[in-house]
Amino acid sequence: MSAAADLDRAVSVAPGVHWIGAFDPDLRNFDIILRTANGTSYNAYAVRGSHGVAIIDTVKLNFSETFFRRLESVADYDEITTIVLNHLEPDHSGALPELLRRAPGASLLVSPQARLMLQGLFDPSALEGRVVFVGSGDSADLGDRQLEFFNTPYLHWPDTQCTWLAAAGVLFSADFLGCHFCDTRLFNDAVGDFRFSFDYYYRHIMRPFRAYVRTALDLIESLPLQIIAPGHGPILRQDPRDYVCRYRALSAPGLHGAGPKTLLVFYISAYGATRRMAEAVAAGAESAASGGEVRVSLYDLEGGHAQPFVDLIEEADALVFGSPTINGDAVKPVWDLLSSLTMVDVKGKIGAAFGSYGWSGEAVPMIEDRLRRLKLRVPLSGVKARLTPTVDDFTACHDLGHQVALHLLGRASPRAIDMASLD
Ligand code: FEO
Repeated sequence: MSAAADLDRAVSVAPGVHWIGAFDPDLRNFDIILRTANGTSYNAYAVRGSHGVAIIDTVKLNFSETFFRRLESVADYDEITTIVLNHLEPDHSGALPELLRRAPGASLLVSPQARLMLQGLFDPSALEGRVVFVGSGDSADLGDRQLEFFNTPYLHWPDTQCTWLAAAGVLFSADFLGCHFCDTRLFNDAVGDFRFSFDYYYRHIMRPFRAYVRTALDLIESLPLQIIAPGHGPILRQDPRDYVCRYRALSAPGLHGAGPKTLLVFYISAYGATRRMAEAVAAGAESAASGGEVRVSLYDLEGGHAQPFVDLIEEADALVFGSPTINGDAVKPVWDLLSSLTMVDVKGKIGAAFGSYGWSGEAVPMIEDRLRRLKLRVPLSGVKARLTPTVDDFTACHDLGHQVALHLLGRASPRAIDMASLD
């Protein structure tokens, strides 16, 4: 077992490169939504060149003292010419204002997308004349070595970028390829098994942006990577390319690939009314795609768990939800699934809703509203049936499914405008 990092000393990562971050072993959740059974680390780095020192990222504000102690063990503040913030979220930028104050000769290098965030997060007077915006193709000169930048937005904020030190083969990747796993042995060949944390972090942080993940992988895959130095978790010096491959696999499209369009009908039903409506919706969808161009699936939420359904939804093209209205609301299993959709990219999918009700029928418009807020397209009015659905209600459900499928196939009729409904 390799030695744990000393509390006050920087840790050598590569020639002229030191880790100067902080450990947070007691953290048990991050950004409210992530469980962090093993805590986390806020990784920051110092890179020494013949003509200056660059600091790459800082730490969460309340870990500043440790960060500055480690920094001071490898550099003087008047040597710092360059501060790179690969990502401005406060867990990486907490010590930035104080660092700018202590290193008055340093420029701050961030991506162009960071402009608005800088304004929102920091006192403008602290940044005046200090900020340089850099993108792919730009570099920072440290004398005998250069830092190169890759604009990699939405991993997982708009401002994120990666920084490449070709002289040592080190990629500073911010949250990308990181994970919440605190282990003071620091390097992936020395720490405990963190594979679960690596995948968990991808699924909860990067997954909604998987198209951007793939674009970023395209940018960095051809680099002669020796070390990946992320913003959280172990530094990946043993087989770093394995982690790139893992991201490639995690972000790949699912098994359906370029197969038929997929339409999922989810429902839950107390007395069978909404279930029979769901069956009519599914039959209507089938009738529009008799040639197999749309794969229609029907799922009872009462018998399922959210996570496998989320996996299905990520690959689907249309989502139709059926819920009864109970006490003026859609029922909890429906909301549980809808609240899980922030984990995946559902923007632009087609959505619709239906359900039976006793008095007021709020569930359908509430689901439709949620779907719109998740940026699905909801081109069709939902179907509500009071108590026992009538023949007309089932016909409307059949038509709803049929029309959703036609939308998927690009064969939907233009929407008729009811002139009488206009003021
Ligand atoms: Fe680790 Fe998005 O901050």
